[in-house]
Amino acid sequence: MVAPLKLGIAGLGTVGAEVVRLIETQARVLAGRSGRGIRVVAVTARSKAKKRSVDLRGVEWVKDPLALATHPGIDCFVELMGGAGDPALAAVEAALNAGKSVVTANKALLAKHGLKLAKAAEKHGGALNFEAAVGAAIPVIKTLREGLAGTGISRVYGILNGTCNYILTRMEQEGLSFAECLKDAQRLGYAEANPSFDVDGHDTAQKLAILASLAFGTKVAQSAVYVEGISSIAPEDLRAAADLGYRVKLLGVAVRTATGIEQRVHPTMVPKSSSIAQVMGVTNAVTIDGEGIPPITLVGPGAGEQRPRPPWWPTSPTLRAASAPIRSAGRSRSCATPGRRRWSATRAATTSASWRAISPARRPRSRPGSPSRRFRSSRSCSVIPMAGSRRQMARRCPCPSF
Ligand code: HSE
Repeated sequence: MVAPLKLGIAGLGTVGAEVVRLIETQARVLAGRSGRGIRVVAVTARSKAKKRSVDLRGVEWVKDPLALATHPGIDCFVELMGGAGDPALAAVEAALNAGKSVVTANKALLAKHGLKLAKAAEKHGGALNFEAAVGAAIPVIKTLREGLAGTGISRVYGILNGTCNYILTRMEQEGLSFAECLKDAQRLGYAEANPSFDVDGHDTAQKLAILASLAFGTKVAQSAVYVEGISSIAPEDLRAAADLGYRVKLLGVAVRTATGIEQRVHPTMVPKSSSIAQVMGVTNAVTIDGEGIPPITLVGPGAGEQRPRPPWWPTSPTLRAASAPIRSAGRSRSCATPGRRRWSATRAATTSASWRAISPARRPRSRPGSPSRRFRSSRSCSVIPMAGSRRQMARRCPCPSF
């Protein structure tokens, strides 16, 4: 009989409380799937006194995240506090340095410190899992890290921010203003505490940086992403695009070019007939163009309270953290695709192998600056960035190949 995986959860907001509830109510299913029970043994949050919807009787309250991260009674530290800096950073580093596994939904932390954390995980033998950080319910991290581990990837793009897609959808369908739609997105709980993070494209940029690093084996670098948001888009822009046979979406695009990895976030005109154009409301979608395979598109709910329950959010990576030590304990298998990339099969499921996939000498350069200028003048583009000017938009190339 394998001992249950003992979790310490830092952060008991909407997501943290839901994870505690899920682990409690789905205990049998989770144990069946991971081959091991999962128990929440300790928690921490900003306020102990706050009324919560979950029963925390029998769960130890630890005074601060750092103490919880290194708590001798936990195997896995679940970080659901958010933020790129401390206390999340210090706590995750401490947990990894103590050899514990970490599950986090913190895209800001990963976009800024992902490689450093992955290295710490590898050094000390823990797992670093973060499925919920990108694409909400869509298992895109697992797809890139494991499912497509042997496939060369040429482009990853998608709708990565539910708030923006919700706003653009309502503006298009109901002719409403940007401000009205943003207000509703906030009321419905889609937007971040600071909505400019969503509408100015930074949330998409963080998620794109994580996807690009997994897809191309590059260092996670949010600062290398060209970012343009949707706040200057007016209903007449959407009508003008519609007249030309397009719909406007905020896309995150990472593409391998001859000179490096181009990463950009901007409003984009996509042909109405394309699959990405059908993605409406708060839904997210990610398309992966791989060498020798047709494009793979994953679609799923992206933001808000009505996001589906299992198997997403941290419970799914928690399951992986639970099962990895059993299923791969001590075994390390090195795999190679001739002339392409190497990765460790054991660690591919659990730590930073994907972030180390291409050796530094072979690693494509991530280029800061404004890659979209070149893209905008291309006649062979498959998606068309908008720059806000209707005159410019009317001059853009048609792109039947998208
Ligand atoms: N504010 C984010 C979004 C939440 O709208 O997509 C999920 O990351």
